[in-house]
Amino acid sequence: MGFSPEQNAMPPEALLEWYVEMGADEAISDAETNWFAASEAALAPASRAENAPASAPPADQAPSAAQVQRPVSAEPATDKAASALAGAAQSLEELRAALESLEGFPLKVTATNLVFGEGVETPDVMFIGEAPGAEEDRQGRPFVGASGRLLDRMMASIGLDRAENAYITNILPWRPPGNREPTAAEIAICLPFIRRHIALVRPRIIVPVGGTAAKALLDQRQGIMRLRGRRFEFADPGLEQALPAVPLFHPAFLLRSTGQKALAWRDLLTIKQIIQ
Ligand code: URA
Repeated sequence: MGFSPEQNAMPPEALLEWYVEMGADEAISDAETNWFAASEAALAPASRAENAPASAPPADQAPSAAQVQRPVSAEPATDKAASALAGAAQSLEELRAALESLEGFPLKVTATNLVFGEGVETPDVMFIGEAPGAEEDRQGRPFVGASGRLLDRMMASIGLDRAENAYITNILPWRPPGNREPTAAEIAICLPFIRRHIALVRPRIIVPVGGTAAKALLDQRQGIMRLRGRRFEFADPGLEQALPAVPLFHPAFLLRSTGQKALAWRDLLTIKQIIQ
């Protein structure tokens, strides 16, 4: 990241504060990356080759391997392209490969790992959160940070375990930088993939975890306070029949608002009743 003259004059603590406010709250590389150089390299390989000097450019002018590794594609991904890719996947492996081949989606460039999902196929319950956080991004696994540990305990309280009878994933499989909320456009691109994911996992019931997941999957406008604990139907052409869906508070919210745990417990019992 380059500095403006004003930022160069800032005391280091103020600059750090500014970074955190902008959402740059963790170092993802030891060296700074010039993404403009990366895009240029990706967009104009032919002209670069034509004009290439006979000898290699000085090391300080050449983009590093990291800079050219994951360029942002010129064409932004479209809902149509996402639907076609997702719809063609006939297995979870193919769906993962489809996500890996999606082009023009900037979160893929800023994220460290694709966080696909984990658990068993045909589970009792499929939990679907919003998007990976920092720890999930590092490990490439869903819900493994502090809120994931609480989710595991909530699941265990009604006899569910990701290794035995549950499956966990997110609406977005890549972490938004600084854990910002996903945009409507990002959700629209990822929806065909999560819909296909549900059809391929074939759970008995789905549980959107938190307001973003509940609104996106159930096409609702109300917030999680109104949606939680209610039974909805989730229909999709890839499913033989509609599935019950019961939204649940996000564990990150419960960690901040412990007074709401009683309501979450009630909702877990509703989920338990449905699977019994
Ligand atoms: N929050 C989410 O919504 N999903 C995760 O995987 C982790 C935290």
